[in-house]
Amino acid sequence: MQRPIAHIAGLGVCIPTRVVTNHDFAERLETSDQWIVERTGIKERRFAAAHETVSTMARDATAAALARAGITAKDLSAIIVATASPDRPLPSTACLLQAQLGAENAAAFDIAAACSGFIYGITIAEGLIATGHGDHILVVGGEKLTAITDQNDRSTAILFGDGAGVAVVSKGARDGRGILSTFFKSDGRLADLLTIPGGGTADPISEKVVAERSHFMRMAGREVFKHAVLEMAEACDEAIRRAGVKPEEIDLMVPHQANIRIIDATAKHANVPLEKVMVTVDRYGNTSAASIPMALADAEASGRLKPGMLVLLVAFGAGFTWGSTVVRW
Ligand code: COA
Repeated sequence: MQRPIAHIAGLGVCIPTRVVTNHDFAERLETSDQWIVERTGIKERRFAAAHETVSTMARDATAAALARAGITAKDLSAIIVATASPDRPLPSTACLLQAQLGAENAAAFDIAAACSGFIYGITIAEGLIATGHGDHILVVGGEKLTAITDQNDRSTAILFGDGAGVAVVSKGARDGRGILSTFFKSDGRLADLLTIPGGGTADPISEKVVAERSHFMRMAGREVFKHAVLEMAEACDEAIRRAGVKPEEIDLMVPHQANIRIIDATAKHANVPLEKVMVTVDRYGNTSAASIPMALADAEASGRLKPGMLVLLVAFGAGFTWGSTVVRW
């Protein structure tokens, strides 16, 4: 089938208002602003309020995306929520969102691909459109990571933040613009390097799980770092090759925002100069599946993302999973 089959017709974002700085962590954990900035590039991140959840943040982000796409919630044929921090184990956050939006014609389901979830979602949305499952699909990257992070563990607490970003993926090409390539992959042998070991059906929630705090994220940071650099590099190469473009033609690269050093290494490998790379990790930290749509919306609002640009999106996350796409914006 000839691409583009689909394009991104509208973006929206929800950024929680509470700012938590590195200094806030340094007041109660053995860490410092200097350590966090040097090792990660993060200066501050957002924490959702108690009443905010992935579905409510996604709902708030969706209004702008629908308006931008010129459609209403009733025009959506599917809602895909990529999240590692769903509102509940059952039902899907996508179904909770479907009800809040009144998207009465939409199928709704979650995908679990961690930080690569938005790229996986775009890939699935394009496939659904190609097989005749509707004209407009909402792809959400939303996270309330502060709820699944041990706030007393300095090696993870400082990294993660909350937020949601959404994209309406619509049928056809807009003036020849749209999704030119997609790539996604995984290696589940490395599952234990970044995991929530307890609280699932393999080790259901119990006093033991809570006492051991194994219902929170555990990460082997240095190992994750090494794989992130390697797999993000493969993902860049594949999306660029499949799109039939050259690295020097990329106008804007929007990588998953985990760590400035991973972003720098990925850009260097892909031969994309740093001035063409979107960076929000300093302001929002790592928001997992939400990081790419949040950064895209930020790029659009600040005038860095313009129609006609060749855009490379690339992500890596728990699983491990990784993926990429090249879009003529
Ligand atoms: N403040 C101060 N010191 C800290 C710290 C913190 N917040 N967190 C860890 N340390 C300490 C460690 O205890 C360790 O001390 P030791 O040498 O006495 O044992 C030291 O800093 C170095 O730890 P290490 O984990 O090797 O540091 P690092 O340079 O690899 O940086 C990360 C740690 C987490 C920033 C880095 O590994 C990373 O970003 N990994 C990828 C994480 C990621 O992106 N995950 C999501 C993937 S989508």
